[in-house]
Amino acid sequence: MKGQNNQYPLNSVSKFFNAQFHFIQFLTYILILGFGITIGVIFSFYLKDCNFSLQFTQLSLSSFPRTPPLPPPTAKPEISNQSQPRTQIQAQTQIQTETQMETENSHVGLKEFLKPPPVVHDMDDEELLWRASMTAKIPDYPFDRVPKVAFMFLTRGPVFLAPLWEQFFKGHEGFYSIYVHSNPSYNGSRPESPVFKGRRIPSKEVEWGNVNMIEAERRLLANALVDISNQRFVLLSESCIPLFNFSTIYTYLMNSTQNYVMAFDDPSSVGRGRYSIQMLPEISLNQWRKGSQWFEMDRDLALEVVSDRKYFPVFQDYCKGSCYADEHYLPTYVSIKFWEGNSNRSLTWVDWSKGGPHPTKFLRSEITVKFLESLRDQKCEYNGDSINVCFLFARKFAPGSLSKLTKIAPMVMHF
Ligand SMILES: *[C@@H]1O[C@H](CO)[C@@H](O)[C@H](O)[C@H]1NC(C)=O
Ligand SMILES: *[C@@H]1O[C@H](CO)[C@@H](O)[C@H](O)[C@H]1NC(C)=O
Ligand SMILES: *[C@@H]1O[C@H](CO)[C@@H](O)[C@H](O)[C@H]1NC(C)=O
Ligand SMILES: *[C@@H]1O[C@H](CO)[C@@H](O)[C@H](O)[C@H]1NC(C)=O
Ligand SMILES: *[C@@H]1O[C@H](CO)[C@@H](O)[C@H](O)[C@H]1NC(C)=O
Repeated sequence: MKGQNNQYPLNSVSKFFNAQFHFIQFLTYILILGFGITIGVIFSFYLKDCNFSLQFTQLSLSSFPRTPPLPPPTAKPEISNQSQPRTQIQAQTQIQTETQMETENSHVGLKEFLKPPPVVHDMDDEELLWRASMTAKIPDYPFDRVPKVAFMFLTRGPVFLAPLWEQFFKGHEGFYSIYVHSNPSYNGSRPESPVFKGRRIPSKEVEWGNVNMIEAERRLLANALVDISNQRFVLLSESCIPLFNFSTIYTYLMNSTQNYVMAFDDPSSVGRGRYSIQMLPEISLNQWRKGSQWFEMDRDLALEVVSDRKYFPVFQDYCKGSCYADEHYLPTYVSIKFWEGNSNRSLTWVDWSKGGPHPTKFLRSEITVKFLESLRDQKCEYNGDSINVCFLFARKFAPGSLSKLTKIAPMVMHF
């Protein structure tokens, strides 16, 4: 009851206060609105001003096609200094950066576009092989291309005959590229000689006779293919030496119409005996070939080798243990698909006459002028003719032979 009686006066009091409260609220809204409009007006004036000065600055410096109200770029002033507008037009930094990039890009010539990436890169094998497999569909180069020979060194550790090679390459810059694949366990603590400096490609473990040796060869080829100038590709080891001077080797390779991947059919247990029936249907027994690992090939064949996705996986799966993929993969693959351009012989001389699993290693005492002369003077077929330059390289030479080789080289090899 008491509560009911008190309800009306209480209600009227609260209504009074409510009305007052609403009035204050209304007043606040009005104030905020007014304040907002004032700020808005001031701000819009400021922006207008700013926009005007922006356009003015741009006009005086250069034409920016992306900023809307601009007269047609009739007398387009040169961008005299690009750092100047950057500091003035703070609000337009992003647009400007884009425009600047466009301006810079329009100056990128073909030379810049074809520049090979650094030898040390972050591509994995899959990415690298894909990148390397690219080729121009138009066969003629729209510029003067100086073809280079890619010398690819597959080594365990350092190229210990580097001073001899240094002597060989001297004065022929621009006509060769060097790539080195050494075992990752080799920490490179030896000081590198100038021509080999920074030429070590990202490498992986290689075991003698294992299929990962071919992976390393493909890695070398792929790295070399990325340089559009490389035309001929030679695989060498740390125990290889050149038998002729650079100009002779360069001419021999560039003028050759053939590839030099040794391939022959060996019916014995160390030839056909290494074939596996599981390689069918891709590879049959009478397609199986043997040959030296040390090849020389042109750009077209190198592209085919890095792009092979049919035969190489067969070797990865079934050429294990005493199969020795390095002696069979390229000879077999090239003989199946590209035998027409192949000479079936190697350009690297090696001595197997003593038998066993490894060829003869020549020591310092065995190296004579007569011995080297005999390696240089052998009869061979070259572009369909018989000539007496057969081998351009030779192996295997021990590290101890270096000083004798560098001494004899000018006399015998003319470098
Ligand atoms: C642009 O400015 C830099 C320093 O800020 C100066 O070194 C350069 O010469 C200037 N370039 C031109 C084209 O004026
Ligand atoms: C590099 O390897 C050699 C032997 O393989 C070792 O003696 C040397 O300490 C290594 N150096 C570094 C910096 O790891
Ligand atoms: C390179 O060697 C050949 C012989 O193989 C020789 O005729 C020629 O003069 C040599 N070139 C130079 C530049 O020494
Ligand atoms: C190829 O041989 C010809 C002579 O038959 C010679 O004139 C030309 O210079 C050689 N090419 C190269 C790249 O050495
Ligand atoms: C190379 O060997 C293949 C067979 O594998 C043969 O067809 C081709 O005629 C040979 N080429 C030469 C130049 O001997």
